[in-house]
Amino acid sequence: MANNILVAQSGGPTCAINASLSGVIQEAMRQEKIGAVYGALNGIQGIMDRRIIRLDSQMHSEGDFQLLESTPAMALGSCRYRLPEYSVAPDVYKLIAGVMQDLEIGYFFYIGGNDSMDTAHKLGVFFAEEGIDIKVMGIPKTIDNDLPCTDHTPGFGSAAKYIATSILEIIRDTQVYNLPSVTIVEIMGRNAGWLTAASVLPHVVGEKAPHLVYLPEVPFDPDQFIEDIKAAQLEHKAVLVAVSEGVKTAEGRYVAESVQDETVDAFGHKYLSGIGKYLERYVLEKLGCKVRSVELSVLQRCAAHIQSACDIEEARLLGAGAVQRALAGETGRMIALVRTSNDPYAVELGTFPLEEAANKERKVPAEWILPGNKDLSQEAYDYLLPLIAGERSCPVQAGMPVHFHFDKTPLEF
Ligand code: F6P
Repeated sequence: MANNILVAQSGGPTCAINASLSGVIQEAMRQEKIGAVYGALNGIQGIMDRRIIRLDSQMHSEGDFQLLESTPAMALGSCRYRLPEYSVAPDVYKLIAGVMQDLEIGYFFYIGGNDSMDTAHKLGVFFAEEGIDIKVMGIPKTIDNDLPCTDHTPGFGSAAKYIATSILEIIRDTQVYNLPSVTIVEIMGRNAGWLTAASVLPHVVGEKAPHLVYLPEVPFDPDQFIEDIKAAQLEHKAVLVAVSEGVKTAEGRYVAESVQDETVDAFGHKYLSGIGKYLERYVLEKLGCKVRSVELSVLQRCAAHIQSACDIEEARLLGAGAVQRALAGETGRMIALVRTSNDPYAVELGTFPLEEAANKERKVPAEWILPGNKDLSQEAYDYLLPLIAGERSCPVQAGMPVHFHFDKTPLEF
């Protein structure tokens, strides 16, 4: 029976996705039943192009795993490739199966978000229908935290910690001048406001800012936005606003669409950045005060110097857990975090059919978003705070963090 492992990473980067990879490799190396551990470069596309590297032979010490876990983004590279339906492109499925069979793969792990779970699901169905004995497991990741089934996704906690910390630091910066000002912070998250929700966390340490917060779950009205700022200015000289890149008008049109062209990625997702700049100009035009916008952009997903220890620990556990579940015979499932308690915070691992996670988006519950765009409910704080808990120290060289690199020379086979 084929007993090698293949793992790949897909979708948008996070600074916890390598911890899941580390968990997969570590657990696979512990299991006597497993032979070689292979990694595909750039996700499923690397499998199709036969760009595969050996991973276990590149991990020599506990220190290598620690370095991998404190390295942001995908150490194996990523892709945004949507596996077409089998009926449309059967050859693609056969090509992927052929490569895996050449490598004697018995277990395939795909670390990614909603779209990547769709790819894993389609492959799992194909293998089952064709009687190909390759177990497929999905391992969740996304800073957007919008995957169903799992309480939260690895990568989100670290991004949320970076956002909350950055907001605190921006608060100090905005308050130095005795002048009216508006600062707008643009936060990622496409259609779900989880990351923007994390911007309110400084309230728990006594800050009044951010004074206004706009999630994609609530329709955005530019006129109301100006009225909200005017009202906030009556109480605060330096008004701080957190806004999601994905806020939409009541008609369902992304506000940021007006500043982007119609470019979409392979999954058909629109590129959304630019709402902060757009609103900066709008506020300047309408209110004429000092305005600045800050786009956190990719910093919020690659700021590994401020990883959440909780996030990294869970990401590693999910990777290791997926290997254990696959060896126990599970396939076509996504490993997930099931929260059992907020205080003290506790989670267990569970698995769910990949189909349930694929292509679906989990939004911030409407009842957590308080009216008036000013704050979130206590439930939101109770949910979010444990996820940003704990600090990690990363190895440093010449005053900068050290990152892990695989030798990416593809194997010949
Ligand atoms: O994967 C999630 C995400 O980071 C979104 O928050 C964001 O809209 C998108 O990816 C950006 O994608 P790209 O990697 O193409 O910049």
